[in-house]
This record gives sequence, structure tokens and C-alpha cells, in this order.
Amino acid sequence: QSALVHTFNGIPFSTRSSKELLHTLDSFEAREDDVLLVSYPKSGTHWLAEILKNLYRTQQGANGCGTVTLTSPIEFGDPSKYEDLRNLPSPRLIPTHLNYKMLPVQLKTKKCKMIYIIRNPKDTAVSLYHYYKDNPNLPTIDKWTTFLEMFLRGEVVCGSWFDHIHSWEDHKNDDNVLILYYEAMKKDATRSIEQLSNFLGVNLTPEKIHEIAMKSSFSEMKEQAQKENINPNNTVCALTSNKQLIFRKGTVGDWKNHFSTKQTKIFDAQIEEKMNSSQLMKCIEYEN
Ligand code: A3P
Repeated sequence: QSALVHTFNGIPFSTRSSKELLHTLDSFEAREDDVLLVSYPKSGTHWLAEILKNLYRTQQGANGCGTVTLTSPIEFGDPSKYEDLRNLPSPRLIPTHLNYKMLPVQLKTKKCKMIYIIRNPKDTAVSLYHYYKDNPNLPTIDKWTTFLEMFLRGEVVCGSWFDHIHSWEDHKNDDNVLILYYEAMKKDATRSIEQLSNFLGVNLTPEKIHEIAMKSSFSEMKEQAQKENINPNNTVCALTSNKQLIFRKGTVGDWKNHFSTKQTKIFDAQIEEKMNSSQLMKCIEYEN
């Protein structure tokens, strides 16, 4: 591969996640009120982070005491970052692209709330392809065809999409886990915000929910990102601090503009073979 990627536990990681940090993930000290925002890359992590920030901020307006600290991803940086995380006020909202197995053990034993967002894998692959092309922190990719083969083999950052979903399968019904779907969020953001507020125990009026949906819309977030300077301390995805790389199209079904008939066939066959037993897969709006 390149100097930008290294392999840990058989999974390709950006070198922005140091080997030392990945080795010491289990020494991370979780707090019971930590909230984890988990995703395979390009599934809507920044969108969800924006909704959550606004959700807590709105609560502050209501009773004067709610706010949340959005931290950098748990796998980003080197072990010194744990010291930084220790100094941040609660509740902490912690993003991560780690699969369930790799999550620091205390997050599991303390039953921290975890939100896992899933996106149609074809759109995820397309989005990740563009991210590879546009993001200087990722290796150069020449062709979509080559990239799609890499994606299907799990030879992309954060590894196989299939494995990532499978790692959550046994935890989908855990009380501390909420599963959200990108396509469902696109269809009805209000409903997703309601689900999140119920899960987190935050009371919101319908007006506030509407306001959050507006503030976290694709166009609003894209416009905001264009106005902001790049802040290296503001990293939601370990692969970049440059938010301008994030807001590309924000639509459902862009895969149809990239996949050939043959590629669709191959992809569908892999889904059939690898995801046959997955209940999570059944909930994905796959055809659109
Ligand atoms: P596309 O590349 O298909 O446009 P992540 O935040 O996990 O890196 O995911 C990025 C993907 O989510 C990008 O997909 C991006 O456009 C999309 N996205 C970001 N904000 C969004 C929003 N508010 N609404 C819908 N999609 C959004």
C-alpha cells in the first residue's frame, strides 16, 4: 500500500490512527454517560454528529444545563490523546469507525449508549471512492472499477463493510444500542431525530425537532462548511479535518450513476452470499 495506510488486526487503517494507539484501545477510560457515534466510513457520520450537537444544544436552551462535547474519533492520533479525552467535560460524544469487536472494552462493560448508522453499501462504496479521490490523506485511486474490487475485498480503510455490519449483528437489540439508517433519515429526518431524542432521554418540542432538521440539512451543512476554516481540532472522521471533503452529493441512489450492469450483478451476488443471515441487512433500503 502506501505511507498513508497501515494494517492492524488485518484491517487497513490510515496512518492518522497510530499503531500504538490501536494497540492500547482497551486502556481508554470510558464514562457511563459517554455516547458513541459509530459508522463505517461515509455512512453519514458528520450528519448524525450535527444532529446530536444541536439536540443537546437545544436542551441547554430549555433547562440551562445540557451540552455535549464532540471529541475526535477514538482511533485518531496517538496514545497521548487519551489524556486529552480525560480532560474533556461530560457528556462526551465520541465518533468512531471501529467495528464492534475493536471498541474499547470499558465502553461495553459500562454499557455506554451507542448509535450505529448504516448506509446502503453501494452508495457507501461510491461515496468512499470519491473520498479516496479527493482526500490527500488517502492513497491515489485510478479507476472506479479498481476501487470497487478493493471495496469488495475489504482492502479499503476500516476494512470490509460486510464484516463491519456483521460485528454489530449480535448487539442490534442491546438496550444501549440504537441503529439508524441513512436512507430512512433522508426520507424522514424528523422521525430519526425523535428516535434519537427518545434514546438519549432528551425532551424536544416539535418546533425544536423541525429546527434541528433544518440546521442539519445537507445544503445548510455544506454552506456552513464552506464558510468555516479548517480546524485540525475538529475531526469527526479520522481521515480528515477538512469538512469541505465531506459534503459531496448527500443523496440516495448515486450508485446508479457509477455501477455497470455487470458490477451490480457481482455486488448483489456478494451481498446474497455474505449477508444472507444478517437481519441488519434486511432493514437496508438496498434497491433504491
Ligand atoms: P456522498 O459522498 O454520497 O455525498 P461521513 O460523514 O460518514 O463521512 O459520510 C459522508 C456522506 O454523507 C457523504 O455522502 C455526504 O454528502 C453525506 N452527508 C453529509 N451530510 C449530510 C446531510 N446533512 N444529509 C445527507 N447526507 C449528508
